[in-house]
Amino acid sequence: MRTDSRREGPIITLDGPAGSGKSSTAKAVAKRLGFRHLDSGALYRAITLGLLRSSVEEADWGNLSEQGFTNLDINLETFENRFQVLLRGQAVDSELRTPEVTDRVSFVASLPASRQSILGLQRKAGEDGRLVTDGRDMGTAVFPHAELKIYLIADLEERAMRRLREVGEDSPDDFALAQQARALDTRDQSDSQRTISPLKKAEDAIELDTTGLAFEEQVQAIVDLAHQLTLL
Ligand code: CDP
Repeated sequence: MRTDSRREGPIITLDGPAGSGKSSTAKAVAKRLGFRHLDSGALYRAITLGLLRSSVEEADWGNLSEQGFTNLDINLETFENRFQVLLRGQAVDSELRTPEVTDRVSFVASLPASRQSILGLQRKAGEDGRLVTDGRDMGTAVFPHAELKIYLIADLEERAMRRLREVGEDSPDDFALAQQARALDTRDQSDSQRTISPLKKAEDAIELDTTGLAFEEQVQAIVDLAHQLTLL
C-alpha cells in the first residue's frame, strides 16, 4: 500500500464506539511512529462547550447555521506531536470531559452544520500526512483515502469499566457500572443512527477487538499493522 503522493506520509484512522480506547491508543501509536495525533472528538466537545458558554439558548442549537458554528471560533494549534484544540484562542482540555459536555455532545455532533464547520480544519490537519486520528467518521467521511483504517471495539461492560477507571473509580459497584454502560450505549445509539457521518466501520477498515487486550498490546497491534502495510 502506498502513501497518497500528495502527502509526506500516511494517515491512520481509529474509529469506534465510546470508551473503546481510541484516543489514548491513537496518542500512543502516534508517539511510537513519530506522527501527530488528532482527537476529533475533542473538536465536537469544544463546539459543545462553546455553545454552553454562548448566549444561544440550548433549544436553538439545532437551528444554527454553519456560520453560527464557525463563529464559536474553534481552532487547532499545531505542536510537534499533537494538535491542541483552542476555543476562542484558549486551550481547552479538562473542561471538555465534564458531564455537561458529554451529555450534549452527541446531539451537537448530529447536526450537519456543526460537522461541516470543522471539516476543513480536520482535513488541513491531515494535509501533510504522518497523522494518527481518532473519532467516529475519520475513516469513512473525513479521510476516506487514509492508508490504514482501524475500527476499535470492546465489550460494553469492559468499556464502562475503563471509563470509570479513567476517573479514578477502580472498584465501582454494579449500579455505577450499569449506569456508565447505559450512558455509553445511549451515545453509541445516537452516533450510529444519525443520518450524517454515522458511526460505522469503513468497508476497508480492520476491526480490532480490544476486550481483554492490555493497553500496550493494542498499541503494538496497530504499530505492527502499520509496519506490515509498509506504511513507514
Ligand atoms: O472519548 P469518547 O469515545 O467518549 O468520545 P469522543 O471521542 O470524545 O467523542 C465525543 C462525541 O463526539 C461522540 O460521542 C460523537 O457524538 C462525536 N464525534 C463524532 O460525531 N465524530 C467524530 N469523528 C468524533 C466524535
